Amino acid sequence: MNTHAMQTIWKITEVLQQAEQLEAALSESLDLITEEVGCEEGSVRMLHEKDKRVYAMLNVGKTDITGYSVALGEGIAGTVTLSGKSELVRDTAQDPRFSSTVDEETGFHTRNLICVPLLNEHACLGCIQLINKKEELTEEDREICENLAALIAIAVEEKGFSVEPNEDRKPMIVLRNVIKEYGSGETVNQVLKGIDLEVYEGELLVVLGESGCGKSTMLNIIGGMDTMTHGELTVDGKDMSRPTEAELTEYRRNFVGFIFQNYNLMPNLTAQENIDFIAEIAQDPMDSAEALEMVGLKGREGNFPSQMSGGQQQRVSIARAFAKRPRLILADEPTAALDFQTGQEVLIVMENAIKQTGTTIVMITHNVEIAKMANRVVKLKNGKVHSVRVNMHPLPASELVW
Ligand SMILES: Nc1ncnc2c1ncn2[C@@H]1O[C@H](COP(=O)(O)OP(=O)(O)O)[C@@H](O)[C@H]1O
Ligand SMILES: [Mg+2]
Repeated sequence: MNTHAMQTIWKITEVLQQAEQLEAALSESLDLITEEVGCEEGSVRMLHEKDKRVYAMLNVGKTDITGYSVALGEGIAGTVTLSGKSELVRDTAQDPRFSSTVDEETGFHTRNLICVPLLNEHACLGCIQLINKKEELTEEDREICENLAALIAIAVEEKGFSVEPNEDRKPMIVLRNVIKEYGSGETVNQVLKGIDLEVYEGELLVVLGESGCGKSTMLNIIGGMDTMTHGELTVDGKDMSRPTEAELTEYRRNFVGFIFQNYNLMPNLTAQENIDFIAEIAQDPMDSAEALEMVGLKGREGNFPSQMSGGQQQRVSIARAFAKRPRLILADEPTAALDFQTGQEVLIVMENAIKQTGTTIVMITHNVEIAKMANRVVKLKNGKVHSVRVNMHPLPASELVW
């Protein structure tokens, strides 16, 4: 192996050893190896013992394949998981075992791939797969991947990991090839460059990404607060790409709730009035006193925003969002303005409210630690989906540290 590849493997060893949440570490490792080998996509697939199916748990690349699985023995991933032997496919068109079903569904084109089993002493746990190297795949690539697979297998054995089938998730929101541009002609700035994304009913989805990568823009499009330049948005199967004014009002009023970084409370209204003001126009609102109790602010009904700390104001804004009983809550960096301890308290409050109400949440953050409490994490980079992971074991907000 070349020196650079060795260094990458060392780095991955460290990442996996220090993992507090295996899924986060697996995602980081896969990201490093996909880049090292020079592939477009990469995925980790895990065998579900009872089902005898191999489920995609996380992937790097713009196509989310975490909803897909193959039977043990089927396709390349199924073959490798069954045989425990790695496969290098230089041209998928020439390999009869390659199943193009996922490609057909996602519109992706797999040209070549390398698939390596995750082996421990007793069994094969699944496989990792890298797709579409620009140049020809080499035996050295195989060696690099086998090293990674060995490290992952050890980590999985040490930390314990269970796989749950996730193919029957119901998509509530679907974005297809969403493009957002500012300006026109020669000065056009493409901020979202073709986003495909699902938000599933009942999940806490965290959208991660560095400042300026397009998170807020995407969230605002989902929330009907901004419009896209091209693409499609469907909500519960209904096309909302170009909604009428009436549809938009109805959607914003009853379907979505918002939580912002800077709370956005009305300064001249009390905590209770801030909630009533929004809740009253909803169809079946929660009682504002009940909503305040849910966020631990019983007794603060009459306080004005200026009489409350940042954390308390954010809790009022959480109560306000949940009080509408919306189907979906969109939270834009809800803890970014708060110190660690207050931020964590706010996340614990959100976690409880989610448990009590079952509301679907999309929360955006640039804080990788916060992503560990999610059911699913989508990372954006430069206006595109960079990776997706399912957290089989979300961390409680109380265990997060940043
Ligand atoms: N109204 C606007 N006009 C022009 N450019 C904008 C506008 N809003 C956002 N942008 C640009 O879009 C990019 C993404 O912004 P944003 O979605 O706010 O990123 P994030 O929330 O990930 O920090 C940034 O480069 C920003 O400068
Ligand atoms: Mg933002």
